[in-house]
Amino acid sequence: MHRLIERDTELEQYQSALKPVINGAPPKNLFSYGQTGVGKTLSLRMVVERLIEDQQNIDGVDVQVIELNCKSLNSSYQVAANLINQFRPATEQIKPTGYPSGMIYNMLFDELEALDATHCLIVLDEIDAIGNDDDILYKLPRANDNENVEDTLVGVIGISNDFTFRDNLSARVKDSLADEEIHFPPYDANELGNILKQRAGEAFHDTSAQRLDDGSYELQSDILAGDVIPLCAAFAAQDSGSARQALKRLYKAGDLARDKESDVITEAHVRQADEIVERDKVRDELTRLPTQSKLTLYSLLLLEREDETPSKRNRIYERYVMAAKRIDADVRTDRTIHDRLSQLTLKGFLDVDEQNKGPKGGSYYEYEFSIRADLAQEVLQEDERLAELFATDETSTTLDSF
Ligand SMILES: Nc1ncnc2c1ncn2[C@@H]1O[C@H](COP(=O)(O)OP(=O)(O)OP(=O)(O)O)[C@@H](O)[C@H]1O
Ligand SMILES: [Mg+2]
Repeated sequence: MHRLIERDTELEQYQSALKPVINGAPPKNLFSYGQTGVGKTLSLRMVVERLIEDQQNIDGVDVQVIELNCKSLNSSYQVAANLINQFRPATEQIKPTGYPSGMIYNMLFDELEALDATHCLIVLDEIDAIGNDDDILYKLPRANDNENVEDTLVGVIGISNDFTFRDNLSARVKDSLADEEIHFPPYDANELGNILKQRAGEAFHDTSAQRLDDGSYELQSDILAGDVIPLCAAFAAQDSGSARQALKRLYKAGDLARDKESDVITEAHVRQADEIVERDKVRDELTRLPTQSKLTLYSLLLLEREDETPSKRNRIYERYVMAAKRIDADVRTDRTIHDRLSQLTLKGFLDVDEQNKGPKGGSYYEYEFSIRADLAQEVLQEDERLAELFATDETSTTLDSF
């Protein structure tokens, strides 16, 4: 496991919330949140590791931790079924569907009750995947209070990078899960610089990082030009404050230098790496958009090809309706598509301009791509449902000649 630095405050919060467990007290339920790549998962692992170590010297306390990544699980039921299977041996696994929901919770409670431990901490990472179906986040934290489980003290730690999910948790879930909330803010350029230096010391040859008394790091390197780390840190800080994105830039710059058989990694490699990483990130985000948003982008793409951008909302909507019909998707109202356009703008895919037509003419919005249109096209074309739109495009001349 990589070493965690720059997260002392959050580690302390975790530790003070979990420490009472060592003295036999019931664990607190925690909810930690923050944007992607800001060390939520790594911090949790670190705290768990320490907790497991600490309890080994203490009689009468036996803490078990189970960690479940919920990324591909889209309901409370699936989370419960996966937890049950983590407790069970390979020969007694349950199927992921088919039980009444009351029964699945009872099976989970039985597993917890039968556990040969005084405490069980259940870490649900990327829990936002379950969406509105958050029943388990009420049931599990309350398992002891509601006397569903009596012999094992149960604590839940939920982790999420989706702020909407946090804000939309039902009141009863907020009340039972979030005994304490731990917020992970984005890293600033200085913090990212230290994380990068520490990691560069491990990753590159002829490079070593030394921790100074004030907690910052000093780097000695024959292969990293002096401005490489500050530049990676600055790009990532501007972008999202994500350590993952910062590290990607550094490693990519290293790959580029190697490909070019350069002995040193330079600022030019970092600039090129930044473009590639940024492009990959946008591509990734585009790929994960729902079909309706992709159809909205497709409509704008058509207008772009006709040199009709920036475009008004009603023109985009016209194209949208045609495209949606062609692939048999639900045709949503213009209001909904206007909302999609705003969301796509917020996510940084589109630019919007408000046009004023004088005091009587009112105002209207015009949209255009803020990312490269060919990148949008590439991603949309790869989508199973939208691919058809592009296929008919290409064959349209052949069809016409019939
Ligand atoms: N404070 C840190 N010190 C060292 N490495 C870090 C730190 N924070 C993050 N990293 C590194 O950055 C990457 C992302 O961190 P992590 O997986 O913990 O993020 P996360 O907040 O869980 O993101 P997500 O919401 O996407 O799951 C990992 O490679 C991790 O090792
Ligand atoms: Mg994570």
